[in-house]
Parts: sequence; structure tokens; C-alpha cells
Amino acid sequence: MKRMLLTNVGELVTNDPAPDRDGGPLGIVRDAAVLVEDGRITWIGPAAHVPSHDDELRHEREQRRDGEEHRSLWDADVEVVDAGGRAVFPGFVDSHTHLVFGGDRAEEFAARMAGRRYEAGGIRSTVAATRAATDDELRARLAGFVAELHAQGTTTFEVKSGYGLSVRDEERIVRLAREVTDEVTFLGAHVVPADYADPAGDPGTGADAYVDLVVGEMLEACAPHAKWIDAFCERGAFTAEQSRRVLEAGAAMGLGVRVHGNQLGAGDGVRLAIELGAASVDHCTYLDDPEVAALAASDTVATLLPGVEFSTRQPYPDARRLIDAGVTVALASDCNPGSSFTSSMPFCIAVAVRDMGMTPAEALWASTAGGATALRRTDVGAIRPGGPADLVLLDAPSHVHLAYRPGVPLIARVWKDGEVVA
Ligand code: NIG
Ligand code: FE
Repeated sequence: MKRMLLTNVGELVTNDPAPDRDGGPLGIVRDAAVLVEDGRITWIGPAAHVPSHDDELRHEREQRRDGEEHRSLWDADVEVVDAGGRAVFPGFVDSHTHLVFGGDRAEEFAARMAGRRYEAGGIRSTVAATRAATDDELRARLAGFVAELHAQGTTTFEVKSGYGLSVRDEERIVRLAREVTDEVTFLGAHVVPADYADPAGDPGTGADAYVDLVVGEMLEACAPHAKWIDAFCERGAFTAEQSRRVLEAGAAMGLGVRVHGNQLGAGDGVRLAIELGAASVDHCTYLDDPEVAALAASDTVATLLPGVEFSTRQPYPDARRLIDAGVTVALASDCNPGSSFTSSMPFCIAVAVRDMGMTPAEALWASTAGGATALRRTDVGAIRPGGPADLVLLDAPSHVHLAYRPGVPLIARVWKDGEVVA
């Protein structure tokens, strides 16, 4: 058995509240220790309660005398990691990324920063670059992003398709994504591809023909590799009716529902997501009061993506308003080459705290347990006995430093299933 004792943790954020823990939902244990056996957490508690080697030897003698079989923490190799009083929290759960694509859109970003508006149509230039890339090129790029995620403390992540938009290319993308994560989302309904747009370049009548393809042959090819179905319900992408067709077809194939909605303006995405019992509706930048109330009354998580508003110079979503209304909020990176080319959850936390009205504790919860809820996962996003040892050691005494020291590389070590990944 492989054992690790992570001890002398100044602040252990468990996301497992209990009366003797502080930090509300963060369930903080101070001066803590965590025991990991074969990649799973088997014990957490005060570091002072970890039995010393001498205690164990005494206990062993007593048990031998009583004829009991002895099992000691110290009777096999145990790796002791001294956290030096620093903070440890659950690995980030990034519930929204688009990491399989070719090319980049740095020029488009520069043009935006010079005053041009963001438009969903930019997606089509990434589609051309993605179709031109080989499987091995896409796989190598993806491996680089996974290393980037790990280095920044993310241990669970979702990956969406959406830059292939043909049967062959969407199938390739979900298949490659499945090589690196269980959380794969089929987003054939990202935008109407150029080959289906009418000559003026508008989605036009070609959109319905494209939706026929998405709900037919494309879904058939992609569903075996995917867990989720998603649609971009927005002006310039898909109408509520088109999105509903796609989402219902995916659900009929056993996929869970997620929606991109209310990103660029008021729209039908949030209402549709709630009606279909989606696990999450993502963006949620433009919401009216009835939509906020409906979200609060539903099981649909509102996933906010601060990197998008940062990179498109749009107003940030109002996390404070959502939390105060009782909505479950998650934060995610939306890492993609167009609207948000960051893979950094610490960056998203810093922006959410500075500009979206979240406290550092709320932002950390939203990036860990919130992301897990958005993926309907109960195993990740927390540190509790029985769960996987997905842990982040922060080079700081508390989680507040994630927002307090923006841009500083504070992620000291990251374990995924008990293995060091960064
Ligand atoms: O989540 N909203 C739609 N899709 C992506 C943008 C993709 C792009 O611009 O390439 C998003 O922001
Ligand atoms: Fe997205």
C-alpha cells in the first residue's frame, strides 16, 4: 500500500462543513493532517492527533499481547509531506473548457482591445484551423493544456467539442477529449458552420439543415464518447427552438444537458436550461429578475466565466446578485482561443472577487464544490475520507491569497488521485 501523510497544514479547506469546523461551507480545519492511502483520503483531522511512531509501537505491543492483528500507520513506508503551515484545498473543478482546437486568435483579441466588438462568428476561423489539424497535432496541444491545468491546481475538467462542426471533425474532437477526461460534452450546436451558412454569411435557412445533421448523424457518432450535450443558445448562434431540438435529442441518447446562454444579451438560454433540467447554464451575464428567481428555485447551476468578460471587454456577470438570491454559482475558465484564452482558475477567482462581488471564500467554493455540482459530481470538489486525493498545496497561509495576490504563481504542489501532477 502506498501511503502519504500530509501534515502541518495551517488551513485545510475541506468543503465538508461540520459544527467543529469554521469557514461555513468551506469546512476549514486548522493545523490539520490528511492521510492518503492508494490515492484515496482515509483520514483527516488535527495534526496533533496523528499518532506518533512511539505511540504506535506501544499500541502494537499491547495489541500483540491481546492477540490482535496489528495495523499501524508506520508499519509500511509512509511518505510524510510537511505543508509548513500553508493552506491546502481541493483541486479545482473546471466545468467548462473547449481545449481541442487548432490555431489561435491573438489578432482578433488585439483588434478587440483596439475597440472591435466580440462576435460569436469568430468561432468559424478556429473551425477551419481545427479541421486542418491532424489527430496527433490536436492531441499534443491538448496534452499541453492538461499540463497547464494541473500546474494551476485544476484536477478535474470538462472538455467541449464545437470547433469541428462536421461529423468527422466533431467525432474526432470528442474522441480525443475522452482520452484525457470523463467529462466530455458534445457541442455540435456551437455555431452554424460556414458551409451551411447562406451566401450572405448569416445562419439563415442553412441553420435548420445544420441542426438536422447535429441531431442525426453527428449525435450518433459523438454520443458514445460523450457524457453531456450542450448548445449555444444566443443571437448569432442557435434559436431556442433549434437549441431545444439539439438538447432533447442528446437527452434521448442518455446525455446530460448543459447550455451556453445569456452571454451577449438577453435570451432564452437560461429559461430553456431550467425547463430541461440542465445541470448547468453557463455565462449568465444578462439576466432579469424572474430568471434569477427561476434559477434559485431550480437544480441548475449558474456557471460564470470571468475570463470571457475580461477578454471581450464586456460587463461582468453579477455573482453577488445570484448568490444573494440563493442560486448555486460555479466559476469556470471557458478556456478557448476566442473569448477566453486562460486555463487559470486562480485568475478567474481573482477577477470574480475583484469585479463580480464574490468573497474569496465564495469564489474558492464556486471553483471547487460549485464546479463539481455543475458536473453533478459528489466525489470531487471536497476533501473527505473515501474521496480521491485531489489536493492543492498553496504557497500561502490561507485561500484568501488566491485573490489577494493576483497573478502570483502560488500553486506549490498538486496531487490527483494521490499522484503528484505538478
Ligand atoms: O463559451 N459562447 C460560445 N462559445 C465560446 C466562445 C468560443 C469562441 O469565440 O471561439 C464561449 O465563450
Ligand atoms: Fe464556452
